[in-house]
Amino acid sequence: RRIIIDTDPGQDDAVAILLALGSAEIEVAGITCVAGNVSLKLTENNARKICELAGRPDIRVFAGAIRPLTRQLVTAEEVHGQTGLDGPQLPEPIMKLQDRYAVDFIVETLMGEESGSITLCALGPLTNLALALIREPRTAPRIREIVLMGGGFFEGGNITPAAEFNIYVDPHAADVVLKSGVPIVMMPLDVTHKAMTTAKRTAEIRNLGTSVGRAVADMLEFYERFDEEKYGSDGGPLHDPCVIAYLLKPELFRGRNCNVVVETASELTMGMTVIDWWGVTKRPKNATVMRDIDHDGFFALLTERLARL
Ligand code: BDR
Ligand code: CA
Repeated sequence: RRIIIDTDPGQDDAVAILLALGSAEIEVAGITCVAGNVSLKLTENNARKICELAGRPDIRVFAGAIRPLTRQLVTAEEVHGQTGLDGPQLPEPIMKLQDRYAVDFIVETLMGEESGSITLCALGPLTNLALALIREPRTAPRIREIVLMGGGFFEGGNITPAAEFNIYVDPHAADVVLKSGVPIVMMPLDVTHKAMTTAKRTAEIRNLGTSVGRAVADMLEFYERFDEEKYGSDGGPLHDPCVIAYLLKPELFRGRNCNVVVETASELTMGMTVIDWWGVTKRPKNATVMRDIDHDGFFALLTERLARL
């Protein structure tokens, strides 16, 4: 598949990008960055660090939206650290940020390449994708699929009791994307909370003996501490890599086609994804919502692909 990765790295975003770059079946047309886990300045810088770590300074990295469509930016340094990528000591990138605005790159790629050939992988707030769909509505039918990490239903939220971080940061953008008519696959907390690192899984990645293996293990050891303290878990959830793993091995995931609507009015439940799992409304089905994962298969795939870098 030819993909654009829209992202706000973030350690789990970084692992997702590395999983894509380690997989020959996936061609990364570009990486577009958005403000989310940390400010845009840091997310685009982190994306370039990760490309260089993977030995891929040829990947084009673009900067997009500096803030959500209507709300103030909310960031997550408490999870990801001040840089957004705390843990490993990675050198400052030498590769340049592309001049073009990320939203223009998304629109021009979708309009310029064969219709139905581009998959959008969304690992952060959906601001860039919404801006592209608004700027050029003819892009929508040309998108093969949007695979996104966001939302939660049975698990509740991780930034408020009702909302997951990516959707909460820009609920209006999520609303635009969910109403776009583009085929959507959604990885909510219900599935990503089942993709947990463990000491053994992280050690296997470290023991690859490569600079990528060491950097990923350093990232995960930093990132895990937040969930270990907050939820008492043995590790941390690898949210964003689920998106890329789905492209490589969809059979690792189980879900169903549902209607999904985002709360954009009530402050109490702002950004909640109301998933009609049981089909109690007649609202049209607009997303395949994943709920289960073969977690051993997922970590085997991840470790094997990281080993290729
Ligand atoms: C999502 O929020 C971010 O902190 C992670 O990178 C992931 O995309 C999980 O709620
Ligand atoms: Ca992310």
